[in-house]
Amino acid sequence: MNEHNLRSHIIKTCLAMNASGLNQGTAGNISVRFGDGLLITPSAMPYGEMQPEDIVYMAMDGCAKGLHNPSSEWRFHRDILAARPEINAVVHTHAMHATMLALLEKPIPAVHYMVAVAGGKDIRCCPYATFGTQALSEHVLEALEGRFACLMAHHGMIACGADLGKALWLATEVETLAQQYWGALQIGTPIILPDAEVDRVLEKMKSYKYGRES
Ligand code: 13P
Repeated sequence: MNEHNLRSHIIKTCLAMNASGLNQGTAGNISVRFGDGLLITPSAMPYGEMQPEDIVYMAMDGCAKGLHNPSSEWRFHRDILAARPEINAVVHTHAMHATMLALLEKPIPAVHYMVAVAGGKDIRCCPYATFGTQALSEHVLEALEGRFACLMAHHGMIACGADLGKALWLATEVETLAQQYWGALQIGTPIILPDAEVDRVLEKMKSYKYGRES
């Protein structure tokens, strides 16, 4: 995809994440690997007003080039893309149910087999740090070890993927799991699947690929 199309694709993904209820207002942000750096949403700009030229280019050293300030969360976007070559897109949202669990600093355990779509036996919740800080980025990277998604205490969630479509798909799966877990917590104590079964599911998930393989 050329740069202009990629910029438009980022905006389309932002609009989709708000339209589906995965995010609200100007919360959240999105980045995609591009060249030697990344393309990232500008800070605090309503997605409905965003034009392709508003997306900011950032080199891996954090130097931004664009009409606006990059997202305040550029550190974790840059750090995820730098540390994880298999990831090319990062979606951060304040999705309602994922965030409600994160307010309790609660990870999502293997109460549903689909927890394995994020790559492991649970979806971790990283500790709180002030938004936009290097400390938050470090917590996020640790919670993402061996995973493609995590919750962020008192903040929201992150989902990553080989491309934007996969990252948005995973964000939707994580929010669905969070809603199911949250609902189950209202009426009882959700039961965690046995470890051996989660191992089996993780193995099967290796051939469960979203969309067309590129
Ligand atoms: P930005 O508008 O700076 O991307 O910040 C939104 C947000 O969600 C911070 O965590």
